[in-house]
Amino acid sequence: MKFFVDTADVAEIKALAESGLLDGVTTNPTLVAKSGRKMRDVISEICALVSGPVSAEVAATDHEGMMAEARILREIARNVTIKVPLTPDGLRTCRKLTDDGTMVNVTLCFSPAQALLAAKAGATFVSPFIGRLDDIGEHGMGLIADIMTIFRQYSYLKTEVLVASVRSPLHVVEAAKLGAHVATVPPPVLRQLFNHPLTDKGLANFLADWKKAGLSIA
Ligand code: E4P
Repeated sequence: MKFFVDTADVAEIKALAESGLLDGVTTNPTLVAKSGRKMRDVISEICALVSGPVSAEVAATDHEGMMAEARILREIARNVTIKVPLTPDGLRTCRKLTDDGTMVNVTLCFSPAQALLAAKAGATFVSPFIGRLDDIGEHGMGLIADIMTIFRQYSYLKTEVLVASVRSPLHVVEAAKLGAHVATVPPPVLRQLFNHPLTDKGLANFLADWKKAGLSIA
């Protein structure tokens, strides 16, 4: 499973990129607004840190407007992935961009039917938002299971399932068990993936025994 980080915080991305575990980045208008910086500057800095796909979302809602914004965004770096909403205009834009060889992430997917449409539009990634479904009492992970089942029936569909709106390490593990291609994870959840109390306890014991014995490797 590929790990993307879901943030527009360049300092966070730099630290995570140094871990060697980062395969890509997703941003959205809310995250870029939260950074308080210009979209072009943020995306350009992120693309210099991460060689994998970096999603930059259009703000226009009509096809022509999305295409105009996409042309600007994809000029920033070769790994920019244009993020479009799952609307008729978004999917039309997706088809046009992927036909031109541009990577596209179709976002705000909340149903298997929508995911199928995104795949048929040639999306590089489709982003089902599982946390937001859980928030309204629906079963977010059930959506991932349904989409994976559907995509497996048609080997010619090359769209990768990018699990979004991830809220916990359990979301990541459950999505991986279903074979989802990518999880985009907020930095705090990504850091939580490392944690287990027995790892901390075991390491403390090993170091204490080592020190007591007065051993050294060098
Ligand atoms: C994905 O690309 C989105 O940016 C993100 O996962 C949204 O998550 P949220 O529901 O926590 O805002």
